[in-house]
Amino acid sequence: MNTIVITGGTDGMGAALARHYLAAGDQVTVIGRSRSKFDTLVAAVTSDDPSAAARAEFIAADLSLVADSRRVVDHLLAHHARIDALVLAASFIRQQRQTTTEGHEASWALFFLSKYVLVTGLAPLLRAAERPVVVNTAVPGARADAVDFEDLEMVRGFTFKRSNAQQRRANELLGVLATDDNPNLAYITWGPTRLVRSSFAGEVGKGMRIAAAVLGKLLGQRPDAAVRPIIGLIDDPKPGRAAYRGTTKRALNAGDQDAARLAAAVAESL
Ligand SMILES: NC(=O)c1ccc[n+]([C@@H]2O[C@H](COP(=O)([O-])OP(=O)(O)OC[C@H]3O[C@@H](n4cnc5c(N)ncnc54)[C@H](OP(=O)(O)O)[C@@H]3O)[C@@H](O)[C@H]2O)c1
Repeated sequence: MNTIVITGGTDGMGAALARHYLAAGDQVTVIGRSRSKFDTLVAAVTSDDPSAAARAEFIAADLSLVADSRRVVDHLLAHHARIDALVLAASFIRQQRQTTTEGHEASWALFFLSKYVLVTGLAPLLRAAERPVVVNTAVPGARADAVDFEDLEMVRGFTFKRSNAQQRRANELLGVLATDDNPNLAYITWGPTRLVRSSFAGEVGKGMRIAAAVLGKLLGQRPDAAVRPIIGLIDDPKPGRAAYRGTTKRALNAGDQDAARLAAAVAESL
């Protein structure tokens, strides 16, 4: 039985993965904000397999808060001996710049700082697994120079596009840090090949909301279908960094110096 930890595991692709691994007999920890969504997903699995309830754990956390991300790490370190797969799929799309109660820019906090805290903090549990894997649903392919090291939280010149590109590139660089620290780790940045019909949680303008709803309905993939490539990658992990859209491998930009620079800047800001 493997231990699978999934942020954003209450909805969309994260929930599809939680259902899959609970049905497969694994221990699944879901991190999200909605206990009721978690209860609904566990009930759906337990109707076929009553043993699933005992293998499902929920940790309520607002991962846009660094304190909550740290609390999640502490909980997992205290209650688990190893993590075989860590899936980072929490998502809340903000088109505008917002700050959290801790003073961090909210998109950067959720899409990067929480992942940094989880990946670095959970390193001992990933090291304890025979074939550990991190799947980070940050769409690969952002420009190598997308990170503004002087202004990581985009106090100046925030746009949705810049913020999105920066967190995606930073999550690739997090893979450099994580695989340097643990060469046995598979670290995958992954994106779907097309829109996935998920909850699209977020605070976005009317235009983006309508476009996502209409396009999602017309062209969107179901989450259960979209995550099949992720399941393949988790079930047969290869050590080192990799990037995929669906099942197609994408080229990776190097970035040893930028990774070290990012780690130093983040350590200062946390
Ligand atoms: N959908 C797509 O077409 C698409 C395309 C490219 C990339 N992606 C990426 O794939 C991943 C999954 O996306 P999705 O569309 O499947 O997600 P989704 O359906 O929008 O679900 C978002 C998940 O994130 C959780 N979440 C949101 N804010 C949170 C917070 N502050 N703290 C903790 N959990 C939080 C939600 O949990 P609660 O409701 O319990 O808070 C929910 O489980 C994301 O990384 C996304 O960027 C998706």
